[in-house]
Amino acid sequence: MEIKIEDLKILFSEEQLQNRIKELANDMNKFYNGEEVVAVCVLKGAVMFAIDLVKHLDMPLQMEFIRLSSYGSSTTTSGKVNAVDIKLPDLNGKNVLIIEDIVDTGLTAKFLLDFMHCNFNAKSIKFCSLLDKKVTRKVDVEPDYYGFEVDNKFVVGYGLDYDGYYRNLRYIGYKEV
Ligand code: IMP
Ligand code: MG
Repeated sequence: MEIKIEDLKILFSEEQLQNRIKELANDMNKFYNGEEVVAVCVLKGAVMFAIDLVKHLDMPLQMEFIRLSSYGSSTTTSGKVNAVDIKLPDLNGKNVLIIEDIVDTGLTAKFLLDFMHCNFNAKSIKFCSLLDKKVTRKVDVEPDYYGFEVDNKFVVGYGLDYDGYYRNLRYIGYKEV
């Protein structure tokens, strides 16, 4: 599959994304109730979402960035999660909020949750994903928070890429087939 900008249809507009992100942040502000949080952004895909989300969080917050990859230059996952850079500070006793772009097979989410549980005795570990492709799940994992459910289509924009491109779009689009 090849994706050209003129083939893209808007799935979630900038306004829809920003409104939903504010709702998610409100839910989180209620849940954490002023307690400190360490937000862990999964690069590269979650960068736009994480940056917009944390602007609406009102507790004392630190940001960490880790980098994983599973796709390469295709639109289907390789099935293997590659931890490109997963250096983190001591998260024992912390409220950890993992921020992802999309949960597809669930392999990445599962890998990250297992990694956190194995390495740290955190106070809490929550997983937040902008998008949730529930129909393509291969392992049993659900995000604690998600923005929108999407069906089985390859989406780009707002951090999500096709072969490295389209991360800079302010909306989420897909190619109509
Ligand atoms: P999973 O491990 O199969 O759940 O896939 C998670 C990762 O695959 C996400 O963090 C994305 O980077 C990537 N991914 C999954 N679906 C899409 C898509 O539709 N567009 C762009 N990237 C995707
Ligand atoms: Mg990702």
